[in-house]
Amino acid sequence: MKTRIHLFLLTIVSSFTILSAQELVNIIPKPQEMNIGKGVFVITSGTTVSISGDLHNKAEQLRNYLEPALGFSLAILSKPTSKNTIELSLNKELSELGEEGYRLNVKTDKVTISAFTSKGILWGIQTLRQLLPEQILRQATVNGIHWQIPCLTITDKPRFNWRGLMLDCSRTFIPKEQIKKYIDALSFFKMSVLHLHLTDDQGWRLQIKKYPSLTNISAKFHESFNEPQEYEGFYSQEDMKEIIAFAANRNILIVPEIEMPGHTTEVFAAFPDLSCKGDTVKIRSWSKNYGVTNAVFCAGNEDTFVFLQNVLDEVAELFPSPYIHIGGDEAPKLHWKECPKCQKRMVDEGLKNENELQSWFVKKIEKYINSKGKKLIGWDEIIEGGLSETATVMYWRSWQKDIAQKIPTLPNNIIMSPTSHSYFDYTYDKISTEKVYSFEPIPEGMTEKNSSKVLGVQANFWSHLDRTAPRMDKQLFPRILAMSEIAWTNKNQKEWSGFNIRLQSKLKSLSMMGVYFYTANQ
Ligand code: ACM
Ligand code: ZN
Repeated sequence: MKTRIHLFLLTIVSSFTILSAQELVNIIPKPQEMNIGKGVFVITSGTTVSISGDLHNKAEQLRNYLEPALGFSLAILSKPTSKNTIELSLNKELSELGEEGYRLNVKTDKVTISAFTSKGILWGIQTLRQLLPEQILRQATVNGIHWQIPCLTITDKPRFNWRGLMLDCSRTFIPKEQIKKYIDALSFFKMSVLHLHLTDDQGWRLQIKKYPSLTNISAKFHESFNEPQEYEGFYSQEDMKEIIAFAANRNILIVPEIEMPGHTTEVFAAFPDLSCKGDTVKIRSWSKNYGVTNAVFCAGNEDTFVFLQNVLDEVAELFPSPYIHIGGDEAPKLHWKECPKCQKRMVDEGLKNENELQSWFVKKIEKYINSKGKKLIGWDEIIEGGLSETATVMYWRSWQKDIAQKIPTLPNNIIMSPTSHSYFDYTYDKISTEKVYSFEPIPEGMTEKNSSKVLGVQANFWSHLDRTAPRMDKQLFPRILAMSEIAWTNKNQKEWSGFNIRLQSKLKSLSMMGVYFYTANQ
């Protein structure tokens, strides 16, 4: 009798499992191709991770991701095996899926993740984590959970390579551990770039060994303003190496931004002679100094370029990123107009106006960056006054519609991050998650050839208003999930109501990760 009841219960449980398979599949970003089967694979203490190809690191990463919640460690086998295993496999035949694509095949007795590269394998692992009960993200043993993964096959690859988030580390210093938490969450949702805005009027945040004053003076708010100390600070080069390695292991590229020629008054707190007027600046929080100041690097002073090149030497050495972002936004031209040295530079170089002087400045810096084997990115103002064809433009001023319309005649690569949809410092009243989701990065009517110039999309978070970790979390999440789907999933798959259902399930994952998120009833 006992056995019959047991069997009866087992039948209910297993039929429930089959019925709910569809409901268990909540993946963000939505995979390009997916077929859901019947049944589940269950991870037990006897489950192994087996590898085919040079994938030991990824096997360890998978084991380490799962171990805290499982409470046991999966054995890693260096050979393919057949039963109760999660196999990671490099496969040359999957080259059409590109560097980031992967295939995931879940059967009741075996899971296979295959890809052309180890990057693709990691994205398959992230999908696998999303398919498990969300408690798998806990950092302590969770008992009483059936660690099941629904049977299915997925073939997946991203629409865009650049799936970015920018964090403003200047207005408010963002501690290393908080950055790592964001990297973990970005990787879970298959974002690919973390752009760190490391310098601005409110503080210089990266150690430059040649210029200790940049961190002794330029990283601190002036004492007269009584700013809380936790909002200031800097990353040592060792800290940054740690962040870069942590991110690389999770398929996230760290792209550094060093602002020029404007948004640089924190530099003039330590080096006043590098500005046109030579005034010493006191660094204060954004709320005590709204908007953009007129002080900029003097383009007529050779010392400016000696300084910037020395800084860029260390930046190029430290960051493996093929790109260095040089800002370039919102540089007022007033002081250049009034500065004899800058006016002489314009005469000497045959430049008609100050926009051309900015363009000359950017080209000179680009040449230097290129000599270091790196590529330049700048905010879209770098177009004004002419731009070399090799620079990449980060488009942000959605009110500058002509830039989008000019794209067909521009040879430059573009990253789309307009204020209309991708500014995550704006309130949810202004840019809701649904509004983010409605963003289409390719402007209407753009030719296929020119569409290929769009490397992808990026969300930008400026830290002048929301300055504590929970408030930053809520500005970023869950909007970043909508951004990840826009960036990864093909346009024809986009559908808000389905996304919103998956989103509700992923909010639980965010809670497990210790990430705060905004909900409409807050
Ligand atoms: C920007 O928002 N100034 C790029
Ligand atoms: Zn000047």
